[in-house]
Amino acid sequence: MSFTAVKGMHDLLPPVSVAWTAVEAIARRVAARYGFGEVRTPIVEKTALFVRGIGEASAIVEKEMYVFADQGDEQLALRPEGTAPVVRAYIESGAFQTDPLAKYFYLGPMFRRERPQKGRYRQFAQFGVEVIGAAAPAADIEVIALLMRFLGDAGLAKLRLEINSLGCAICRPAYLQVLQRMLEKMRSELCADCQRRSEKNPLRIFDCKNPQCRHLVEDLPTIVEYWCPACTAHFQAVRVGLDQLQIGHVLNPRIARGLDYYVRTAFEVTAEGLGAQNAVGGGGRYDGLVKALGGPEVPGVGFAVGLERLLLLTELPRPPITPELRFFAAIGEKARAAALPLIEHLRSAGIAMEWDYEDRSLKSQMRRADKLGAARVVILGADEWKKQKAIVRDMRTKEQTEVPFKELAHALTRT
Ligand code: HAM
Repeated sequence: MSFTAVKGMHDLLPPVSVAWTAVEAIARRVAARYGFGEVRTPIVEKTALFVRGIGEASAIVEKEMYVFADQGDEQLALRPEGTAPVVRAYIESGAFQTDPLAKYFYLGPMFRRERPQKGRYRQFAQFGVEVIGAAAPAADIEVIALLMRFLGDAGLAKLRLEINSLGCAICRPAYLQVLQRMLEKMRSELCADCQRRSEKNPLRIFDCKNPQCRHLVEDLPTIVEYWCPACTAHFQAVRVGLDQLQIGHVLNPRIARGLDYYVRTAFEVTAEGLGAQNAVGGGGRYDGLVKALGGPEVPGVGFAVGLERLLLLTELPRPPITPELRFFAAIGEKARAAALPLIEHLRSAGIAMEWDYEDRSLKSQMRRADKLGAARVVILGADEWKKQKAIVRDMRTKEQTEVPFKELAHALTRT
């Protein structure tokens, strides 16, 4: 019996994993430049955290979460996103008592039981950031600037940034009421899902892919017409800031986002070349979330980028598995016996060394060194063993020099 990975979940092997490490390094570098510190939360959380955080009527909570009861009958879920866990950690750690502003970033796997297709998986990785404790539009601007810089540094071009404001507790209820009333009138024309949505979560109607529903929603009013003066001012300030930074963007009044915690700013970045799953990143403001999860009344804003989607779009350099690798070719019984301590000595001096576990011919060992992309090969045969010297061969110039064992580490670190 052989096994395959779970549907929608993938292995990462070298050399592809090297590209992943490179993207993660870019994420860490950019996050550090903007003053964000790393937070790592568990992959498993209590299911109720997401029900309360993301919203009972969201698609994620309704049908996409991996939930299970453990042996103690505790209801647990694989995290489908990072914001609710980060906010939970923020509250639980009491971070707000020592610093009114927290700036966190995270990298790691998320789980959603969606229908797999190109760019959509059941396990996927996100790079996300959360600013907790800032209500000013400057925080929204900085978060979006970081997002665009990260995508740019990762080599993505042809991006489209769409932004919207979803209003707040003051102006959104009036809009939702109007929306609900209008949806009620067209109920029979809506798909079964949207009929349900129209009662529980009417904003989700804007995410429906059904052509008839898409057509119908075109005539519906947008939230823009209902923004209160404070929401209008906030949104304008965000746009002015983005203009100042020359971050191109367009208003899309139909961005609703699939998570219910958003208020005011909501944004999405789409890229050409991804097909249907073209959102590389998205985020927004979630001013009521910290309180809803049992914390103080503290605002927040953040984003997350899907790393699989990003990697589908970017041709990152794929260097050899270990850059600056050296290979140790040992021939003959005596040489092989002496090789391992020498190799360990070189590794302890900080040199990346590889060798062949089997007793193969010099030719086959050289072939392997070449395949691994070794910069230099240390050759040790019976003669060299007698002289306590090794031959160091430069694989590029083919030049060979004899080096006493004691000087090997020094000779190999020389460029
Ligand atoms: P989200 O829009 O649900 O937001 O996900 C962010 C990104 O994760 C998407 O734009 C996409 O690139 C990627 N993604 C989502 N689902 C999948 C999937 N099934 N397969 C592959 N990639 C996927 C959030 O998760 C929010 N927590 C973002 C946020 C942070 N808002 C405020 N702070």
